[in-house]
This record gives sequence, C-alpha cells and structure tokens, in this order.
Amino acid sequence: MTTEIKVCMGSACFAKGNQDNLQYIKEYIEENNLEAEVSIVGALCENKCDIGPRIIINDIEYTNVNEDSLKEILASVK
Ligand code: FES
Repeated sequence: MTTEIKVCMGSACFAKGNQDNLQYIKEYIEENNLEAEVSIVGALCENKCDIGPRIIINDIEYTNVNEDSLKEILASVK
C-alpha cells in the first residue's frame, strides 16, 4: 500500500513549521528509500491554521507538527 503524506501549504502552516517539516519528510523518504511507497502532496489551507502546522497521512490528520513529533509519526507509518 502506498502512503500519501499531505502537507498543508497554506501560508500559516508553512510559516509555522511546514517548510521545515516538508524538508525533513523529503530527506526521510530519501534516506529510507521510500520513494516508491510514499508520495508527498500539498494541501490547501482548511482554516485550521491555529492548530497547524498540519500534516495528513493516509487521511489521518496530525496537528502542531514539529520535528520531534514528525519523527514519531514517520516511524509509526513506516
Ligand atoms: S494554513 Fe494550514 S490550515 Fe490554514
């Protein structure tokens, strides 16, 4: 099964951390050779900016994502 990681690219989420989170996810995928199994797509702002940065993995939404929580989230995914 492929994993779809949606990263909110709205300006609030992006500025609050998704710019770095996106970079981290890309590196994680590369280092673990997951290119064939994981796709990254951009998501639009859904007016949930106050709980951002938001990342949605296979339709499960994660909020206030930072590098530490991202590590745990990615480890649980793959
Ligand atoms: S910018 Fe991500 S929910 Fe608004």
